[in-house]
Amino acid sequence: MRVIVTENYDEMSKIVAEMVLTTVQANPRATLGLATGSTPIGCYKLLKEFCRDKKMSFAKVSAVNLDEYVGLDKDDVQSYAYFMRRHLFDDVDIDGDNTFIPNGTAASLADECERYANLLQSYRRDLQILGLGGNGHIGFNEPNTPFDSVTHVVDLTPNTIADNSRLFGDVSEVPTRAITMGISEIMKAKKVVVLASGSGKARAVYNMIRGEITAACPASVLQRHPDCTAVLDKSAAALLN
Ligand code: F6R
Repeated sequence: MRVIVTENYDEMSKIVAEMVLTTVQANPRATLGLATGSTPIGCYKLLKEFCRDKKMSFAKVSAVNLDEYVGLDKDDVQSYAYFMRRHLFDDVDIDGDNTFIPNGTAASLADECERYANLLQSYRRDLQILGLGGNGHIGFNEPNTPFDSVTHVVDLTPNTIADNSRLFGDVSEVPTRAITMGISEIMKAKKVVVLASGSGKARAVYNMIRGEITAACPASVLQRHPDCTAVLDKSAAALLN
């Protein structure tokens, strides 16, 4: 795994946004794998600026998201579908028909997982953006998820629910389940970039990069990816040296 340590969040965001820019300039029809959460927001802000300044266009890009909460409609302000519109899609020239995210309110979650897994087979990601959970999760693949997993419904761990509660009024409002892309599907992306910012991620970053490859830290599987870059700010990288 290639590791880039940056001075701060803004520098981390700029490096990742430039990786997206390069990918889309090289292939205007690129498929991007996108993450939600706080970490990629700075990168998405820069992508909106690049698009506004006509440095890049999303007109032919496809975007495939990692995960969605079970029980939240796409118009719920806490849903990841809403997050993507608010933080990126509404301000770039992407075609809504080319954006994909699991449906957390599907009548049959099993059928929805199968539908999404099939879709992922047709949309191999040229670049997959990942955030990192404090417990080492990628997507919502929590510790001890098998490395050969495909899209599935997950019971979020108490840690993840507590971490995500900062964005909700109260911890009791945080959904306890999500649909997530599986680890084997994440690993099929041609290129992966994993971002981490802040001291709260330092232990997970260490385990991802220096730790043993084990399902106990799902992100450690990225050591096996042939083209994976970790872009970290100084605080997230603090335990590496
Ligand atoms: C989000 C996702 C999660 C987050 C992770 C970090 O789509 O899949 O793995 O990337 O929980 O979240 P933040 O960035 O909020 O610290």
